[in-house]
Amino acid sequence: MSRDPSADSRISAEDIRRRKGGVPIVCLTAYTYPVARLLDPHVDLLLVGDSVAMVLHGHATTLGASLEMMIAHGQAVMRGSARACVVVDMPAGSYEASPAQAAAAAKRIVEETGCQAVKLEGGVDTASRIAAIVAEGIPVMGHIGLQPQSVEKDGGYRIKGRTEDNIAALLSDAEAVEEAGAFSVVIEGTMEVVAAKLTRHISIPTIGIGASADCDGQILVIDDMVGMTVDRVPKFVKEYADLRGVMADAAARYAAEVRSRAFPGPEHVFTTASGKDKT
Ligand code: KIV
Repeated sequence: MSRDPSADSRISAEDIRRRKGGVPIVCLTAYTYPVARLLDPHVDLLLVGDSVAMVLHGHATTLGASLEMMIAHGQAVMRGSARACVVVDMPAGSYEASPAQAAAAAKRIVEETGCQAVKLEGGVDTASRIAAIVAEGIPVMGHIGLQPQSVEKDGGYRIKGRTEDNIAALLSDAEAVEEAGAFSVVIEGTMEVVAAKLTRHISIPTIGIGASADCDGQILVIDDMVGMTVDRVPKFVKEYADLRGVMADAAARYAAEVRSRAFPGPEHVFTTASGKDKT
């Protein structure tokens, strides 16, 4: 993909890193061109999350995401945004085998999308992969706490930081991600008090989801935030709109008007032979 001409005016990963302890960093996921266009003026960071596999493609877990899927959605979000820092998730299977595999996959994502950074899950176990990607000059966002790519292994979506051992492991994970050179880290599904402690403990910004208002920023999945979630709405989600209801109502009214032939009306059809109709 050719270089994004707006790249220099975008918020960079380094800009995000410098916001530790400052005005909270506003992040949302985005997967498509029109949604990226709508969100871009309002957010600091757009994450092309591997949640796309569940939200848009109907997979049961994020394990349904592939590198090609992430690149296609990353390209769409880059086309639709000009200001936000765009981060693309590394899907399961693209970085675990070795640091070299992780670096190659991250390079491919950045070269083919033009995004500002990549994100990958894991703490101590993933630090060598983060370091290898950073060594290639690619900024990395970490992701600790509840890690959706591991839910099958973990036996479900389990909140982290409930035991002393787990709190110690989370502190080690946060330190490992920071030491490996990440510019920020997502803390997901973690006890409030622990997420706040992790935020105080490290010098890079923490981005919370199901974590704490004390994190340096917050992220939600866009479809959850606008009320498009079709199944259970998780506790940590606040719905700021009811697009589910709006779309269901629009579909019902459209269906009724098609069946009654009220749609299309005279204003929606072409009637002048001269071709001067508004298209
Ligand atoms: O894939 C995703 O959307 C994420 C966010 C929930 C942080 O990783």
